[in-house]
Amino acid sequence: MTPTGATNLKQHIADELTRSRQRTQLLTDAVDESDLTAQHSPLMSPLVWDLAHIGNQEELWLVRDVGGRDPLREDIDHLYDAFQNARADRPALPLLGPGEARGYVGDVRTKVLDVLDSTDVGVDTARRLVRSGFAFGMIVQHEQQHDETMLATHQLRAGEPVLSAPAPPHPTGGAAHSYPSQVLVPAGPFTMGTSVEPWALDNERPAHQIDVPAFWMDTFPVTNAEYIGFLAAGGYDDPRWWSAAGWDHRMAAGLSAPLFWERDGQRWLRRRFGQVEPVPADEPVLHVSFYEAEAFAAWVGKRLPSEAEWEKAARHDPASDRSRRYPWGDDDPSAAHANLGQRHLQPATVGAYPQGASAYGVQQMIGDVWEWTSSPLAPYPGFTAFPYKEYSEVFFGTDDFRILRGGSFGTDLAACRSTFRNWDFPIRRQIFTGFRCARTATPAEIS
Ligand SMILES: [Fe+2]
Repeated sequence: MTPTGATNLKQHIADELTRSRQRTQLLTDAVDESDLTAQHSPLMSPLVWDLAHIGNQEELWLVRDVGGRDPLREDIDHLYDAFQNARADRPALPLLGPGEARGYVGDVRTKVLDVLDSTDVGVDTARRLVRSGFAFGMIVQHEQQHDETMLATHQLRAGEPVLSAPAPPHPTGGAAHSYPSQVLVPAGPFTMGTSVEPWALDNERPAHQIDVPAFWMDTFPVTNAEYIGFLAAGGYDDPRWWSAAGWDHRMAAGLSAPLFWERDGQRWLRRRFGQVEPVPADEPVLHVSFYEAEAFAAWVGKRLPSEAEWEKAARHDPASDRSRRYPWGDDDPSAAHANLGQRHLQPATVGAYPQGASAYGVQQMIGDVWEWTSSPLAPYPGFTAFPYKEYSEVFFGTDDFRILRGGSFGTDLAACRSTFRNWDFPIRRQIFTGFRCARTATPAEIS
């Protein structure tokens, strides 16, 4: 989401900070104190760590750096440094308790609003860190990203449901079947990344031309019904479909279905934020690792899209030969475009967002489920770290990660763009991940 004019930029920033905090409060007020301090999974921090970490990052960047003010709690910096403390170790730290953490983030916010009041955030201001409100936008995104992480912790938490939301829109009469199952994206260059989006992070920059050979992209993410077909065909027991690393992991981890699924006679059930329910057939599959996505794609004779293919299918408008901010155009996401922002607590049925289609006719690229791509994390040509190397640069240069694109139902619009790059280990599936398939066009198909 982007501020549209400098005159109301400060108000926009204040509104975004407030909106993010309301979501943080919803996620942390939903459970009692013992739940806040418990570790619900070794993959995740206690919720109370995320809460104070949100405040600590806000203090570091906005109070101390942007504002040049004295520290509030320099003594706790080391506890909330994600690089110093692995998630599994965080419960053993002398963390702030829930009451203290709430007081701390509130105190930081009061100072930040004062800093905002006295900071020039215009487009021409000399200090790049605050130009167009960048540092404030970075902190809004940081809070929203941790809110999505906390939502994933809620999903891992055992016990009665504590979150609720209306069901997402449901198209009537199998709407998805009225669209082609895949669309052709012809060969040619397009503009990947951005140099103009004011709150885009360093790894999304700069905009650059990239030539992409012709390929087919699935119109929709892979659904539960399609994925159940893979299960029923013995896909988890057939190494032909798996990469060597994927098969090793499937065997070692004993994978046999998406995370949170269980078999009930002839049907599959899933646990979703504390509710056990039948797996809905026409919803994008959720909670699968990169390796599972890769195996499914091989089974259907396709593959996962590269990151460049994903972004071209999402953004490139062949009529004007330019890249859009979002699949549907340059307008910020609305409830008619995409399932974002924890408005619903699950992906929407495929076909639910025809207004969110890209120029090529690919649907639901933004929201619903993060989509695995085949690409490792690498810098774009001309990359420079800003404002700090630990956001992206320290993760470059290995084959450890795979890029995820598009955001999920739990991603806020402030942290979701067609250029936004997420990454994680290929074994991860507690995050809100699904995928869609692609394949290279044959010479006969493009002649
Ligand atoms: Fe963080």
